[in-house]
Amino acid sequence: MLTIRSYAPADFEKVVALWEACELTRPWNDPAADIEFCLASENARLMVGVADDESRIVATAMVGHDGHRGWIYYVAVAPEHRAKGAGREIMARAEEWLTCRGVPKAMLMIRETNSKVIGFYERLGYAVEERIVMARWLKKPPHA
Ligand SMILES: CC(C)(COP(=O)(O)OP(=O)(O)OC[C@H]1O[C@@H](n2cnc3c(N)ncnc32)[C@H](O)[C@@H]1OP(=O)(O)O)[C@@H](O)C(=O)NCCC(=O)NCCS
Repeated sequence: MLTIRSYAPADFEKVVALWEACELTRPWNDPAADIEFCLASENARLMVGVADDESRIVATAMVGHDGHRGWIYYVAVAPEHRAKGAGREIMARAEEWLTCRGVPKAMLMIRETNSKVIGFYERLGYAVEERIVMARWLKKPPHA
């Protein structure tokens, strides 16, 4: 149902539009910079899912690893394309990418305001772990 492939530069506007429709963008996360940084790394991949019937980008997942754990970001499915298995499919591909590189565990973060997606990840076998995530900007983005 989905053709999943690596992001290509021509996808930029469609991908950003999808992230905006999915409310994944934030003023301090510049999509262009995030994509550019991902493309520059051998340890990261931005996957896009194209609907077979429409040749439209309807799903994304950005996957990478830090030499210890795998991390998955920008998991998005177009609102009108949800509940058809696209999220499960692109997550499986992201996990496969990690498995092929010997990464034993996939991690992801969910904003507290987006807790409604916890059930989706639970269906895929993920569990909430008791961790406190701490962060510090090393290079402050313009809108942080
Ligand atoms: C979360 C999201 C990616 C799910 O995509 P989707 O294509 O609708 O998911 P699927 O159809 O592949 O669903 C897979 C399974 O999860 C279940 N599921 C999906 N969304 C769910 C939810 N919010 N709560 C509980 N279960 C859910 C489905 O019923 C399905 O179960 P089954 O296959 O065992 O019957 C999509 O809703 C989305 O893009 N949300 C906005 C962006 C977002 O919040 N991304 C996550 C950032 S951390």
